[in-house]
Order: sequence, then C-alpha cells, then structure tokens
Amino acid sequence: MRVVVAQDAPDAYKLAADAILTQVTKNPSSCLGLATGGTAEGIYPYIVQAHREKSVDFSNVRTFNLDEYHGLSQGNPQSYINSMNRWLFDHINMKRENIHIASGVGNAEESVEKFKKELKEFGPIDLQLLGVGKNGHIGFNEPNSFLNAEVHLQTLSNDTIKNNARFFKNEQEVPRTAITMGMGDILKARKILLVATENKQNAIRMLFTNDHVCPEIPVTFLKLHPDVTVIIDKALAIKAGLQNEIEKNILCEEL
Ligand code: GLP
Repeated sequence: MRVVVAQDAPDAYKLAADAILTQVTKNPSSCLGLATGGTAEGIYPYIVQAHREKSVDFSNVRTFNLDEYHGLSQGNPQSYINSMNRWLFDHINMKRENIHIASGVGNAEESVEKFKKELKEFGPIDLQLLGVGKNGHIGFNEPNSFLNAEVHLQTLSNDTIKNNARFFKNEQEVPRTAITMGMGDILKARKILLVATENKQNAIRMLFTNDHVCPEIPVTFLKLHPDVTVIIDKALAIKAGLQNEIEKNILCEEL
C-alpha cells in the first residue's frame, strides 16, 4: 500500500484526479469505478477541467458507481445518479450507455441483479476510486461486512445516517438502505485509489498503524489488495499519527 500525503484537501483532490486522468490517457477504454460523497465531489471538477482544457477523451471510458441510495429517484438531487450527472457526466463526453449506476427505484432485488450482471459482463474495473466513511465503511459496506460480498442491498448504520444527514434537510430524509458493490467486487479492481481528508483519522489509523484486517472496519480489507494508493492530506495524516509519512511524493505517476 502506498500513501501520498498532500498539502491540503484541494491538493489531495487534484492528485486523485491526475491519477484518474493518467489511467484514461494510458488506456482510453478504461473501466473506472467511481465514488460519491464530499471527497469525490472535490475531485470531479479537476477531471472536467482536464476534459475542457486538454481534451481528455472519455468517449470509450466505461464507469461503474460504487453505490446508490434505495428509494431516491433520479430527479432527487441527493441520489447518486443525479449528483454524478451534475458533477461529472453532464460535462464530459461519455456515452450514456457506458455509465452504470444501480437503480435507486423499483424492485431492489432486480436492481441488484442487473448491476451485478453488468459488472460481471464489463468488469473488472481498472481503477476504483474510493472515499471512506468515518466508521470505515467503503461504498456502503458497513461495519461487519463480508470479505467476499457481491452487489447487495445494505441497511445503513446509524452512524452513516447521521453523518450523511448533512446532505439532506434532516436525518429522517436519509434513506435507510442502499445498493452497493460488495467488498469482494471492490477488491477485484486492478488498482484502488482511496482518498480521505478531514475527520477520517480512526479509519486511516487502522489502515496504517497495524496489520489488522477486521470486518468491523471494512476499509481494513484493502490491506489484502496488492495495488492500493491512499491519498490523504497533511492535516489528516497528523491526526492519524502518520507524522513519519509526511513527505509528499510522486507515486501517483505509477498509476
Ligand atoms: C458515502 C458514500 C461512500 C463515501 C462516504 C464518505 O457514505 N457511500 O462511498 O466514501 O460517503 O463520504 P465523504 O467523502 O462525504 O466523507
């Protein structure tokens, strides 16, 4: 596992965007795994900018989003499909048929099966972008997840509901379930890029300060993957006790 310590959050977002852009430039038919949440939102403007200013081509890129709330329609600004359209897809030249996000409406079991089938057909993912929840969740794989889990309907933990309430009018509006790629799907990606800033110190500490892999903190499953790069900002590195790692490097070029 490589760790890149960025000066601050915008620097971390830019480094992550550069890693994604490098992947797309090297392989214009890349299959990307994408994420949502505040961290991911910070990354996409740099990708849009590179598309506009450097003509980075997405016409053959395929994407799979990690997860989607169940019960929110595409018209709801908090649904992940709506967010992804606003942040990224409406601004780059991707083909709509190459965008895969589990449907948040209709029969959940059918959405799960459809998404699972698409992932099997077009995977594996070349580069999977990840954020991490404060409690260590990945996608919506909550504490006590299974290592080999596939796409499934997940009941959200109280912690996640409380945390994500900041994006809704109030806590009651946060959906109680979501469809998510499983940890098994995520670990099948060829490369993983995890980005974290702010208050994720507990999760990041568990990732770097011991070799424990524990289902209570799903992010620790990433220790089992051979090609993971973690980009964090300096403030988080200090909070997580990673003073020694604080030297910015250029490992992103390897991606
Ligand atoms: C949501 C998403 C996760 C994301 C997490 C952290 O729960 N399902 O994929 O990692 O939020 O988001 P943020 O970057 O806003 O802290």
